[in-house]
Amino acid sequence: MPDSTRILRDDTHGIKAAAGLLGAGQLVAFATETVYGLGADARDGAAVAAVYAAKGRPSFNPLIVHLADAAQAAAYADMSADAQKLADAFWPGPLTLVVPLRAGHGLSSLVTAGLETVALRVPAHARARALLRAFGGPVAAPSANPSGRISPTTAAHVIAGLDGRIAAVQDAGACAVGVESTIIGWEDGRAVLLRAGGVAAEELAAILGCSPGAPAHGGITAPGQLRSHYAPGAAVRLNARTAREGEVMLGFGEIAGDMSLSETGDLAQAAARLFDALHALDATGKPIAVAPVPERGLGVAINDRLRRAAAPR
Ligand code: TXA
Ligand code: MG
Repeated sequence: MPDSTRILRDDTHGIKAAAGLLGAGQLVAFATETVYGLGADARDGAAVAAVYAAKGRPSFNPLIVHLADAAQAAAYADMSADAQKLADAFWPGPLTLVVPLRAGHGLSSLVTAGLETVALRVPAHARARALLRAFGGPVAAPSANPSGRISPTTAAHVIAGLDGRIAAVQDAGACAVGVESTIIGWEDGRAVLLRAGGVAAEELAAILGCSPGAPAHGGITAPGQLRSHYAPGAAVRLNARTAREGEVMLGFGEIAGDMSLSETGDLAQAAARLFDALHALDATGKPIAVAPVPERGLGVAINDRLRRAAAPR
């Protein structure tokens, strides 16, 4: 276990160093367009086990495998026509596809937690792609935060949660999307939405020809699906119009606060600011009141994260 975590710069030298650490079975956090991921070689069982340990994550929760480009997906999974359509439309980007594992995939079974499917994503972030190319293999990466805590959208968030527990973090500034990828799986050939995220359901429907359904049986327990997740230390109160005595307020649109998700009511800006705002308000030690956010487009993913942050724990 490293004593303190190295902060690598976002340049050729830093990317080479990060790829070298991954190749040596070490853990490296890196920026994607959604949130910072905690990367490990997805073929190396010991490295993947170290991810679970560093996060304190229950080991039945499988990880997303990140690839440098969409063409690599066929080496790990059987891509159905539907899956390929979504990959063509949204990769690289904030979409994860849960697809059947292919024979001879070479991934550690810890990555998939023993399931017969694998979650694949090709991130759009230029630095993430440069790292994936430099490393040359599949990188398993959950969000780079202790399990159950607020997701990280800056290198400073990563350090605050995991300093000394991972080898390095590649600092590439703040994440542009700010909420995790949308996760789509299939049940009996029908696309289902496993997690709302950076690609809105409306955009998926435009490609699929219908909206993804709700999963019938929650067989796998995705950590993002645990009720109390993304949790700040302080209590969170939703749909607040004004702060009560002693609360700090997170505003949206015309409802101002100590901080605003978006003064203009822009949902993309709100998603990008969400976790950083929760980190900052949580640091005040006061309970957090949050203004209502409309349930459309990226608002669905934002409200999903807010409900989990507010859930009893
Ligand atoms: O934006 C993101 O998706 C970020 C960045 C780093 O890429 N990653 C991320 O990973 O959010 P994580 O581990 O926090 O969430 C991955 C989700 C979990 O809810 C997990 O249970 C689900 O993906 N998942 C992974 N493999 C799966 C599988 N085979 N079947 C169903 N769900 C799966
Ligand atoms: Mg997470």
